[in-house]
Amino acid sequence: MKVYRLDPVGTLDGLKLGEEEDRRPGPGEVAIRIRATSLNYRDLKVATGAYERGAIKPRVIPLSDGAGEVAEAGPGVTRVKVGDRVAAIFVQRWLAGRVDPAYASSALGGPSDGVLAERIVLPEEGVVPIPAHLTLEEAATLPCAAVTAWHALFARGGLTAGETVLTLGTGGVSLFAAQFARLAGARVIVTSGSEEKIARLRAMGITDVVNYRATPDWERAVMDLTGGQGADHVVELGGAGTFRKSLLALRVGGRLYAIGNLAGEAQINPQMILAKRANVHGIQVGSREMFEAMNRAISQARLKPVINRQFEFGDARAAYDYLAGRTHFGKIVIRGA
Ligand SMILES: NC(=O)c1ccc[n+]([C@@H]2O[C@H](COP(=O)([O-])OP(=O)(O)OC[C@H]3O[C@@H](n4cnc5c(N)ncnc54)[C@H](OP(=O)(O)O)[C@@H]3O)[C@@H](O)[C@H]2O)c1
Repeated sequence: MKVYRLDPVGTLDGLKLGEEEDRRPGPGEVAIRIRATSLNYRDLKVATGAYERGAIKPRVIPLSDGAGEVAEAGPGVTRVKVGDRVAAIFVQRWLAGRVDPAYASSALGGPSDGVLAERIVLPEEGVVPIPAHLTLEEAATLPCAAVTAWHALFARGGLTAGETVLTLGTGGVSLFAAQFARLAGARVIVTSGSEEKIARLRAMGITDVVNYRATPDWERAVMDLTGGQGADHVVELGGAGTFRKSLLALRVGGRLYAIGNLAGEAQINPQMILAKRANVHGIQVGSREMFEAMNRAISQARLKPVINRQFEFGDARAAYDYLAGRTHFGKIVIRGA
């Protein structure tokens, strides 16, 4: 089978395509013929050695997000059968309930081998059937970005119709958060640094937009848009550089989801959390149970992920470079080998 490995981890030049023997699934395992994968910002950090959370496996197979068909089922497998269309879950051991630090080593495409290969073998517990109306390319965008947005807004946030959601940028997590919020009947405000991307947001029907380059005090613009109240939910993707402004844009008593670390130096005084009576939630992707709940909503609404661009398997490096260039809007997909 064809497979990419980061050899060495630490530079994009380490991304190497090779040929390896297929591994047969053991008891309770399934082999998946991967038809599509997708990139997350984390994958850039893993490849370049900038990932903050935990050690990366030497010569790791990169990428956490992939979808394909079950090609072979090992002895005793009951949850799926050969031919089923499935996606891998991000933290393989986090099936339900609260997250446990002991699960961390089972995250794909970092501590454990990921999905950028022709075929992978996973425990049957570590896959979910995908919504029937999605292509495998579309389904490959779900495991990290979509589950993270779902976890924040619904599993943790209890988002209800009529509330306001602010989400930062037009990357994978942000656009899923915007789409899910609209599904729930919420009002959505999105920030972006690009007028071209703002035009695309408008084309999606998202009209409450703020250009954070043209309007550096974008938190004030959010307050103005909400009649001085602030957003009920803030999907905080910038991290240190935007956290302060995100808090300022939050409604008193609102919920802020600390998810991202895109840029910047910390400028936060913890008193601001008290001033806003803020509920601050640290979010790590999500469990299989959350993924399954999200898939039910996606199926019900026939929601389609926003795919910006697709690359062929042999062009994986170009897909990474495209992600690093930050011109993308939504998800970047790599087709299967
Ligand atoms: N905690 C978790 O479990 C978890 C899960 C998923 C993602 N994350 C984190 O959430 C963040 C977003 O992830 P993603 O995969 O959705 O990212 P992505 O698809 O690469 O999107 C990033 C977007 O954010 C905006 N942006 C603003 N400032 C930026 C900067 N300095 N560098 C890069 N982008 C910037 C850009 O949109 P505009 O051009 O429109 O401004 C950019 O397109 C990342 O920090 C990622 O590590 C965390």
